[in-house]
Amino acid sequence: MNKNIQDIISLTKRRGFIYPGCEIYGGFGSSYDFGPLGLLFKNNLKKQRRQQVSKHEQVEEIDSAVVLHPEVWKASGHLSGFSDQLVECKECHKRFKEEDLDGKCPECDGELTTPKSFNLMMETYVGATEEGRLKTYLRPETCQGIFINFKNIVKSRHPKMPFGISQIGKSFRNEVNPKNFIFRTREFEQMELEWFCHPDNSDKWFDHWADKRKQWYIDLGIKEENLRVREVSEEERNHYARRQIDLEYKFPFGWREIEGIHDRTDYDLKKHSEYSGVDLKYYDQEKQEHFIPYIIETSVGVERAFLAFLCESYEVISEGRDKSSSRKETVLRLSPQLAPYQVAVFPLQRKEDLIEKAREVYQSLKDDFSVKYDQSGSIGKRYRRHDEIGTFLAITIDFDSLDDKQVTIRHRDTMDQIRVPIKELPTKVAQILESGQLK
Ligand code: GAP
Repeated sequence: MNKNIQDIISLTKRRGFIYPGCEIYGGFGSSYDFGPLGLLFKNNLKKQRRQQVSKHEQVEEIDSAVVLHPEVWKASGHLSGFSDQLVECKECHKRFKEEDLDGKCPECDGELTTPKSFNLMMETYVGATEEGRLKTYLRPETCQGIFINFKNIVKSRHPKMPFGISQIGKSFRNEVNPKNFIFRTREFEQMELEWFCHPDNSDKWFDHWADKRKQWYIDLGIKEENLRVREVSEEERNHYARRQIDLEYKFPFGWREIEGIHDRTDYDLKKHSEYSGVDLKYYDQEKQEHFIPYIIETSVGVERAFLAFLCESYEVISEGRDKSSSRKETVLRLSPQLAPYQVAVFPLQRKEDLIEKAREVYQSLKDDFSVKYDQSGSIGKRYRRHDEIGTFLAITIDFDSLDDKQVTIRHRDTMDQIRVPIKELPTKVAQILESGQLK
């Protein structure tokens, strides 16, 4: 595998995907900022997730608050149980997560202290005055905002069981060892689905969503051999889970979890009923039955999925792909549904009539596709620049275009080219993006 994570990190900075956070102040732990291309890519990822999950006819999406009542975290078990075991090196005094170690300090081989619990919740205070302010926490997972709105959704939207509530939003965890670039950070976005079903059917729905979520990665370009499903043992499972599988991706730094599928049973709704005093049972009118539903959860970090697709699509070609270049080339073979730009539009040269025509073409496409107009540098350089950021098609307006009203479309992966009449471009581009092929 010619994929070096440092090269990938450097590409993301050089091309405007991801910048180290607060860089002019010397950096800030594991914080990262998403640049223009990173934001486009992230938005596409979320759009694809919404396509599968939130647009499902039995799913509603919400956007709940980040800072919740502190009782929520008592009820959810986070205040007592959401912690890592931390050890300190007796020599260099650095701290580490115990589960990542083999008994010695990874920095200096020193002896380690016995593990201590370290809560991962990020504290914050609500209220203006010292005396009156209330201590609470930034949410470490988005799903609790769903559970506490279960009753609101049932009363206002009248969904029939089974149904889902999804949410995409920021979560915060005071991770002991943030690492591997954006793989584990203290601030990240989660995309979660909570699927409410009758307890008798929870196994069936668990398998259903586990299959669907795995297929989602494959459909968007992850090779099946780089994806695996790990059944999580009872000792390792999250405190609320009766069953748990991790979808794992083969990153350049090893197999790691990208998404968790959990059978949370009636744990959360029962706890929130208990702590709030509000009855959170569901009434099934057809069966005339009251019950607390079971919850099947699918949960993935936007940044983790981002990194998996980035690693999967990154390819370095050492010889250069066309005759104009013998230098090393990088291609980001992102699916057209995820690439920051689907199409680039180039005038062959910086001549007024070519520029005018190219801008016309750009205007005709920009409302339907993600398009970048680009006239800087030689045509070869523009091709390579766009290959490196994953732009799927490049449309070039040349001198012949002015007479025959046709343009050249070049495919990022094959570098094949076809001539297409300008007036057919929107239909043709849509077809190519759909099929992935020039023909
Ligand atoms: N609501 C269930 C839940 O939060 P989790 O296994 O703790 O379960 C689910 O997290 C997913 O959230 C993970 O599979 C990962 O994709 C993402 N995630 C968790 N912690 C993260 C972190 N510190 N940085 C980036 N992503 C994280």
